[in-house]
Amino acid sequence: MKRFLSGITPSGDGSLHIGNYLGAVRQFIELARANECFLMVADLHALTTIQDKKQLSHNIETLVLNELALLRGFLTEEEFKKIIFFRQSDVAEHTELQSILNNVTPLGLIKRAHAYKDKLQGEVSEEDVNMGLFCYPILMAADILLYKPDLVPVGKDQKQHVEITRDIAGRFNKIYKNNVFKLPEPYIPEEVAAVLGTDGKRKMSKSLGNVISIFEDEEIIRKQVMSTYTDPTRVHATDSGHIEGNMVFAYLDFFGESGKVDELKEAYRKGQVTDVEVKNYLYDSLMKTFVPARKVYEELKANPQKVKKILENGAEKTRAVASQTMQEVREAIGLTNAYSLSNASGYLTIDEFSRVEMRVGKVIEATNKEGSDKLIRLVVDFGPDFAKASSGEGSTRIIFTGVREFGYQPSDFLNKQFFFVTNLAPRRMMGEESQGMILAVDSGSEKKPIFISADEMPIGARVW
Ligand code: ADP
Ligand code: TRP
Repeated sequence: MKRFLSGITPSGDGSLHIGNYLGAVRQFIELARANECFLMVADLHALTTIQDKKQLSHNIETLVLNELALLRGFLTEEEFKKIIFFRQSDVAEHTELQSILNNVTPLGLIKRAHAYKDKLQGEVSEEDVNMGLFCYPILMAADILLYKPDLVPVGKDQKQHVEITRDIAGRFNKIYKNNVFKLPEPYIPEEVAAVLGTDGKRKMSKSLGNVISIFEDEEIIRKQVMSTYTDPTRVHATDSGHIEGNMVFAYLDFFGESGKVDELKEAYRKGQVTDVEVKNYLYDSLMKTFVPARKVYEELKANPQKVKKILENGAEKTRAVASQTMQEVREAIGLTNAYSLSNASGYLTIDEFSRVEMRVGKVIEATNKEGSDKLIRLVVDFGPDFAKASSGEGSTRIIFTGVREFGYQPSDFLNKQFFFVTNLAPRRMMGEESQGMILAVDSGSEKKPIFISADEMPIGARVW
């Protein structure tokens, strides 16, 4: 199982067309079946061009509904639930990481980005390019690097941004001599890299008005299909027609039934079928393909609470991953020091707490640690399940506890069972690595910790 991450910007009017479906969402659907998928509505990216409050919120709502309807329409509930679908602006770590990455990103690297260069080629002058647009690749790098994905499914036009991301990640790792960031690979299936629009000339794009919509009224979609470019050399239906470059057949290759499409192609070449008949078949095929998604769309539109719940869930899961990466980043660059708070509030979040692993362990060796007057060295057995879960580390761990000052001796622990936290980072103590912590109860006014017996419980059992 690999981890994928991708995002769509709620630009245009936020709605998705069949080019977006074939070029992006269909990949997400296929990938989500057998992989871990983070899918993001990149609303902060839309700020580079949309500076109208009403339009932005409309676009975000539309894109969220469109994308969810497609995902849920094509996937089973089980498959759909595994997707981590979230909104970029719900996870503050994206902008936080961007600020940090700004400092390891050379100006020249960003100046070479196509998105910015293309703008300057047109009517736009440097005065009209805002810093959001200019720094767009750095925000995108933050989007990606926070989640350490293996692969990033994107359109061809975004390939350079993934390369810039790799460059930034490599620089960060080199400057700070660590491996915090994983270098992501772009994932671009060739056959759908660019779907042409209904004009048959340019890439299907909302701004060019050459799209076939997915969630519009049936009449609008019918009109879009009827205006699709076919074969201008064919004057009468009895003339022989061309399939190559004929957009109706290009779309039918994706949406029609292959047997029927082959028959129609044959008949079209022989001048035995009209354009309108072929277009009607395309319309019917599109409707058939998108019926489940269109149903989900209506249902979600009528139930905003359901959509909110999905986004809440997504935000919770992504924050857990993003905050972990940010902690590693802070440590790597020196923001973590003697005066650091554990987090801004001083409280653990539910996400952080849920990552604590507690197990019942049996002390099979207990000795005073040589050279220390505090430490007792425990060898703790967590049983065969733990050995499996800890991938080859075995079933035992060395765990120190500094409690001799309270009158405890090794014999107080030997051959007894207690509760331990098992997923702490290893820590070197007196020349030896200790990994984990024994749990104790505070005895109140006296400082002496009291250990909770777990003698009756199965070894290795998880408490939390
Ligand atoms: P649009 O060009 O209509 O504004 P976006 O640029 O917002 O669409 O693209 C959203 C996603 O859909 C991106 O992953 C992009 O690569 C993909 N995409 C957009 N248009 C097409 C197309 N004509 N063919 C294939 N993929 C496309
Ligand atoms: N820039 C992408 C686009 O316009 C959207 C996007 C934002 C994205 N952040 C991302 C895609 C991270 C992949 C990964 O299509």
